[in-house]
Amino acid sequence: MKISVIGCGYLGAVHASAMAELGHEVVGIDIDEAKIAALSAGRTPFFEPGLPEVLTSALATGRLRFSTEIAEAKGAEVHFVAVGTPQKKGSYAADLRYVDAAVEALLPHLNPGDLIVGKSTVPVGTAARLAAVIEAAQTGGSLAWNPEFLREGFAVQDTIAPDRLVYGVPAGPIGERAVAQLNEVYASAMATGTPLVVTDYATAELVKVAANAFLATKISFINAMAEIAEVSGADVTQLADAIGYDSRIGRRFLNAGVGFGGGCLPKDIRAFTARAEELGRGESVAFLKEVDAINLRRRQRVVDLTVSALDRPVHTAKVAVLGLSFKPHSDDVRDSPALDVAVQLRGLGADVVATDPQAIQNSRSRHPQISYTPDIDVALRGADAVVLVTEWPEFKSIDPEWAAGLVNTRTIIDGRNTLDATAWRATGWKYYGLGRP
Ligand code: UGA
Repeated sequence: MKISVIGCGYLGAVHASAMAELGHEVVGIDIDEAKIAALSAGRTPFFEPGLPEVLTSALATGRLRFSTEIAEAKGAEVHFVAVGTPQKKGSYAADLRYVDAAVEALLPHLNPGDLIVGKSTVPVGTAARLAAVIEAAQTGGSLAWNPEFLREGFAVQDTIAPDRLVYGVPAGPIGERAVAQLNEVYASAMATGTPLVVTDYATAELVKVAANAFLATKISFINAMAEIAEVSGADVTQLADAIGYDSRIGRRFLNAGVGFGGGCLPKDIRAFTARAEELGRGESVAFLKEVDAINLRRRQRVVDLTVSALDRPVHTAKVAVLGLSFKPHSDDVRDSPALDVAVQLRGLGADVVATDPQAIQNSRSRHPQISYTPDIDVALRGADAVVLVTEWPEFKSIDPEWAAGLVNTRTIIDGRNTLDATAWRATGWKYYGLGRP
């Protein structure tokens, strides 16, 4: 099938490459010339495990190309809109200007029977509004909403073999045709029995934000338990294990620590509260404000713990920060708790030396006031405290004895509760976790 993908950021670049790998003929379109040049040359503009391989192999088949010209979308039957919906400046709401612009730009290039497929995360009601715009243009094109659930770090696998597919389509023959077109796009996932939910626009839009709201709530729930554990002497890690054995609860996404970040969970819960308020149902998701507040408090907790664990005033201390990306296997520092902690400690006057296997470049361009090093030993040398804030395997496997030989003071704050506290304490370290004794 001939497919266009509008927006070659994180979502679009992965989607375009994966669709070509699955046998479709794909054109990826973006207005960013540098991004298109890189992708055309087989270089990924961001770090994502497995993507360089899929991109290179798809380009080699001749089925994948990239362009800055929206007119190149003409001739494709299905047009995915995969542009960003960032948080609006000065508001919690989502900024829809890129989605609106992508749909408008596509209109002159649609053939009758073409399907525009929204993948971006949008406030409920957006698809119905865009469907009216498409209908008014009388191109014979129609709209489906097909939310994306990929996780950074597993994006290729999640796109090629998703755990479910959701199609939001209009009722009647137009919707039936859209389902048939999407089934052809996702033929390989359909063949392996991937669960499919065919529904209306509003439900499809809500599925996406509800899923992210649930995940964010799960993380903030365990972090709230960590706060209680801290004042009662309990161990939140054991608590998570124990409640996680209940299959109704499940252990995944119950890792207490410095909290969630990234380009999705934080902005999606905020956009959800803003949209619910617009719809006159703010109270229904008012708890998400608490979820957000708990999450942000954990960053502060790591900073406070570090300051109080130091054996000298913070402005005279060297602090090694291990981790900058919002989670391991990513170079993404959008709303990253790790980078936030580094910035706050620097703001308090500490000599912060931060390291990360992938996210230094992105961090440096945003926060040049911090010192960065790609070498763990350089970060640790002479440190008065070590703060682990992203659980990269490289950091989890640090030998406490080796690290002890580098630092000035054996103090470690494990902001992801990922280290073996007993092993670190056995080598003379003062170990501080979150919600653990
Ligand atoms: C999230 C969702 O998991 C995806 O399903 C969704 O498609 C995506 O957003 C999106 O909307 O595009 P992602 O942002 O890649 O994916 O990251 P997650 O793996 O969900 O992790 C989010 C944050 O939660 C990270 O900062 C992570 O460190 C933190 N986290 C996760 C915890 O603090 N504790 C946990 O137990 C799990």
